[in-house]
Order: sequence, then C-alpha cells, then structure tokens
Amino acid sequence: MKDETGLSRRKFLADVSAGAAALGLTRMGFAKGKPTNSRKPEPVSVAIIGIGFRGTHLLQLSELIENIRVGALCDVFQPHLNRAKMIAGASVPAYSDYRQVLDRKDIDGVLIATPEHLHASMALDALDAGKDVFCEKSMTHTLSETRQLISAMKTSDRILQIGLQWRFRGHNQKVVQLIKSGAIGRPLLFRGTMMARLPWYIHSSDDPKLNRLLNWRAYREYTAGLVSEFGAHILDQVNWILGNTSPARCAGFGGLDHWKNGRNTYDNISLTYEYPNGERLALLSSGFDSHILVPLDIIGTEGSIALGGVAARLFRGRTHQRPAFERYVRAVETNIQMTTAIGSPSYRLDDTDSGDDSLQIGSVRSEGQSDWGAFNQLVAFADSIQTRTKPLVDVNVGARTAISALMGNEAIDHGRVASWPEQFEL
Ligand SMILES: NC(=O)c1ccc[n+]([C@@H]2O[C@H](COP(=O)([O-])OP(=O)(O)OC[C@H]3O[C@@H](n4cnc5c(N)ncnc54)[C@H](O)[C@@H]3O)[C@@H](O)[C@H]2O)c1
Repeated sequence: MKDETGLSRRKFLADVSAGAAALGLTRMGFAKGKPTNSRKPEPVSVAIIGIGFRGTHLLQLSELIENIRVGALCDVFQPHLNRAKMIAGASVPAYSDYRQVLDRKDIDGVLIATPEHLHASMALDALDAGKDVFCEKSMTHTLSETRQLISAMKTSDRILQIGLQWRFRGHNQKVVQLIKSGAIGRPLLFRGTMMARLPWYIHSSDDPKLNRLLNWRAYREYTAGLVSEFGAHILDQVNWILGNTSPARCAGFGGLDHWKNGRNTYDNISLTYEYPNGERLALLSSGFDSHILVPLDIIGTEGSIALGGVAARLFRGRTHQRPAFERYVRAVETNIQMTTAIGSPSYRLDDTDSGDDSLQIGSVRSEGQSDWGAFNQLVAFADSIQTRTKPLVDVNVGARTAISALMGNEAIDHGRVASWPEQFEL
C-alpha cells in the first residue's frame, strides 16, 4: 500500500523495526522487576493527539510496548495522519478533532504531542472527560495555565504525566544517586548547553497558515522558544538534582541573531538561574550549527560530572596530591621560565592510583536495552494507568520546569532579574 507521501506501510514498519533493533529494543510489556508469573492486565488503550515529529516517535515506541494499544490517532494535518496510519494500521480510527477522541469510551488515556500553547487546554479537557493524560513538555505555555492544571490535579483522580524523559534514563538516575551520595561534594555550578540546527529554524512555507501550523516554534504565540523547547530538559535535570526545587531568580540575554525570517522566538540565549541555596545554572542554547547537542556539566566542591545523552563521566579531585601551590613554588625555584598557573590539573583516574595528573575518570553508562528515556516513560505511564499510581513526573515536576522556562524569557524580554512567582509553592 502506498499513500500520497509515497511511503508504504511495510517500508515504514521496516524502518521502525530497524530503529528498534539499533536501539536494542524488542516488544516489551512491563517495567523491569515485575514478577514474570503475574497475570497480565489488559493493555491500556491510548489515543495520540498531535502526530508530528514527537507524536510519531511516541507512536513508534507504543507499537513496541505490550501493555499499550494505540486505539485512535488525531491530527489536524492530514498528511501526518496518513503517515501515522501507516505505522498503526489502517484500521486505527483517525480524527481531526480531539474532542471526538475524548468522547470514545474505550480510550483510557491520551498522549498529547501538539504545540506547547495547546497542551493545557487539551490536557484539561481530557481530564474532564475522565482520561489519563501523558502530555509532552513544556507542560504549559503561561503561568495561569500552570495554576489551572495544578488546581485541576488537586481534585482529579486521573493520572497526569509530563514528557520529561530524562528522569527515565538510567545514567541520569545514576548521576542523581551519585550526587546524593556525596560523590562530588556539594553541586554548586551547572552549565547546560543545547544547540542544534533543526528543521524548524530553516524551513518556512509561503502559505502563512501552513507555516504557522508546522513552523509553530518560530512564534512566541505557540511556544516559549529555545528555553522551553530545549532548555526544559536541562532545567528539569537541575531542579531534580537539587532535590526537586525551583530556581529563585533568573537573569540573562537573548536575541534573534541569525534566523531573521519573520520569526519572533529567540535563536540565541544565555541565561543564569540562581537557586535558593546559591547554586547556579548557566544555560546556553542556540538554533544554529554546533557540535554540541546536550551536555550538562555539574561542578561540585569535590568533583564534577559531565552528563551527556547516553553516558556520564565522573571526575573526582585528588585528595592526596601534594598541594599545588607547594609544587608551583618548587617548580619556579628550579625553572624560572615556568609560567604554569597554580591550578595545574588536579584529577586522577577514579579507580586507579596511577599518580598521574591526567584528567580522565570513570564513566557511568546506561544499563540494559530498555534504558531509553522516552520508551521507559511510556511503559511507566501504562503502568500508572493500570495500577493507579502517581507518576514520577507529575504536575508539580511539569510546573516547576514550565515556570523555570517562563522566567528565562521574562528576564530576556524585560532586561531584568526574573523571580520565581510569589506564593507559587509546589
Ligand atoms: N520530550 C522531548 O524530548 C520532545 C522532543 C520533541 C518534541 N517535544 C514536544 O512535543 C510537542 C510536539 O512537537 P513536535 O516536534 O512533534 O511538533 P510537530 O509540529 O512536528 O507536531 C505537532 C503536531 O500537532 C498537530 N496539531 C496542531 N494543532 C492541532 C490540534 N488542534 N489538534 C490535533 N493536532 C494538532 C500538528 O498538525 C502537528 O502534526 C511539543 O510540545 C514539543 O516540545 C518533546
């Protein structure tokens, strides 16, 4: 079968399987650690609302998870619906109005992957309709939407999980454990960078309506821009490391420096967040070219961690080396030409005592084939629906991240220090 995009369902499924194999994924039922002889509950039935880039990814992952069945698809852009049907199968009902999906009694939950400005209203409607909700980050586009969702969840018995999948990656979890156990002393400084030349920075359509629908990231009406699109994951990770806390203040600069093609979201931002106990995060993000995708450097008083997409590296200071100052004085005495700064390398291999001052340390790798954030978070969502347990990434985690992102734009827009909103306790 071929549709107007020229792709056959067979080819699509082959691509999905190849991708899955490359990731070491097989169709998988339950979160690790469940007894194998337990009776399997019925798969949960979900509808995906918004099947663009991310919705398609969520659909592909759902196809691999045994306790999820995709029961409906929804998008206002027909070509995206056609593509989704090739993955899910022609028999899966497709809709252009999400309210029709919410009317379906057989749908347990929805996965919302529409542009940011639609998240809150769709999530609220879905909760009202009795559905459990997985909603992509950033959870909300405004402060008042954030308040509304928090208030709705105070009385709702439904599940609301936010798509901050770093919390489901093994190596990110390990890093948080290591920091809690004191491996780097007190984490005081963070440097998060997320840069990429992604299609939405390049393309625009001559059809203004289509341009706004598909190129929504170019407009502040639909998204906070880089700080929520890219920054959300970094902000969430830092909030998490610091004990699920929120930044107190934010200052910084940003501009539309390169992609001057009618957009009004910044393409180049540099922000500093300060947390209540004085920890600081420097967050840099841009939409033009770079070799850097997403590293987060965590600098502690006794060591540091470089956290990347698939692994992290731990650097710990030498505890028994000769004081650098003493070495420096001795070196100057013997070699008057020496100009090396006092702080010469002060690291050793983590698990050897080579005595050499080299910089490298041990690494913390992801464990196991299913150790992939986006996949694990969907397994967890299905599990929460089945067991009626509160999700790990709940409305408060989503709110903390969304508000942190809004503070970034407030600081840039008004050239002032933005504070955490008064009386907004999570
Ligand atoms: N967690 C992550 O790592 C991650 C990665 C990428 C995107 N996202 C998030 O996912 C969301 C979607 O991003 P994307 O890259 O898939 O964007 P996209 O533009 O590719 O897809 C959005 C889809 O929503 C559809 N849509 C718009 N209005 C709709 C409506 N009223 N009803 C139904 N469908 C509608 C569009 O037609 C489009 O198909 C965003 O919030 C984004 O931040 C998260």
